[in-house]
Amino acid sequence: MDKEQIRQLHHSWEVNGERWTAAVRNGAIESRRVATDKSILRAALALRPRKVLDLGCGEGWLVRALEAQGIHTTGLDGSESLIAAAWSGGSGQFRHVQYADLIACPELAGHDFELIIANFSLLEEQLGPLLKSLGSLLTPLGTLLIQTVHPLSVPLPYSDGWRTEDFHSFGDKHWQAMPWYFRTLSSWLRLLQDHGFVLHNLQEPTHPTDGRPLSLLLSAKYAPKVSSCFPAVY
Ligand SMILES: C[S@@+](CC[C@H](N)C(=O)[O-])C[C@H]1O[C@@H](n2cnc3c(N)ncnc32)[C@H](O)[C@@H]1O
Repeated sequence: MDKEQIRQLHHSWEVNGERWTAAVRNGAIESRRVATDKSILRAALALRPRKVLDLGCGEGWLVRALEAQGIHTTGLDGSESLIAAAWSGGSGQFRHVQYADLIACPELAGHDFELIIANFSLLEEQLGPLLKSLGSLLTPLGTLLIQTVHPLSVPLPYSDGWRTEDFHSFGDKHWQAMPWYFRTLSSWLRLLQDHGFVLHNLQEPTHPTDGRPLSLLLSAKYAPKVSSCFPAVY
């Protein structure tokens, strides 16, 4: 079941590549325009990183925004059409890589990142192996910043599970529907903790006029426990 959802998920980003690029670049997504773009950028800049990986970078807007601040940023994405759009955007380095290939060979992304950002790009159920490989790409105490949908913006039931985004709110019926995996807040926290990440900041960007929460912004440091085979020093 999971395999078919993932196949459809990847297919949707190939088919939707051009529409998605236009939507992002024209500021057509209200939540991004009014809050979430600024929130992730501000959170990233506050960490003063010198080298960043934008995981699931899409058409590359965040890579360009960080490069404009003099921060060396690599964008990685599994959609060929989005990576082509990203290269045409003017600045930044981009790599066409699926997360499954990154898990098998983390060096495909590069190395020694002080910050890895996943902006609305962790959409699958099984994220443990990916988090493990992200840990190996980070410098000691490097940070993982995840922005994802806020639980209050998603219809009940409040439980982990596959959902479908039909993109109908974009006012165009030609989008390819995308399966994606919703996680509760406790599920996100457990996932991070189980893979060596320690949460150090949690924000909930809201709509500036009606106060609706628009996203969850989780910031976690990579601090895996020292292996028990190391002798204790007293
Ligand atoms: C909602 S878009 C977000 C794009 C970008 N981060 C942004 O803020 O505009 C999700 C992105 O994650 C990428 N993605 C999702 N699952 C992936 C996977 N398994 N391997 C590589 N890329 C993936 C998609 O191709 C898509 O570009």
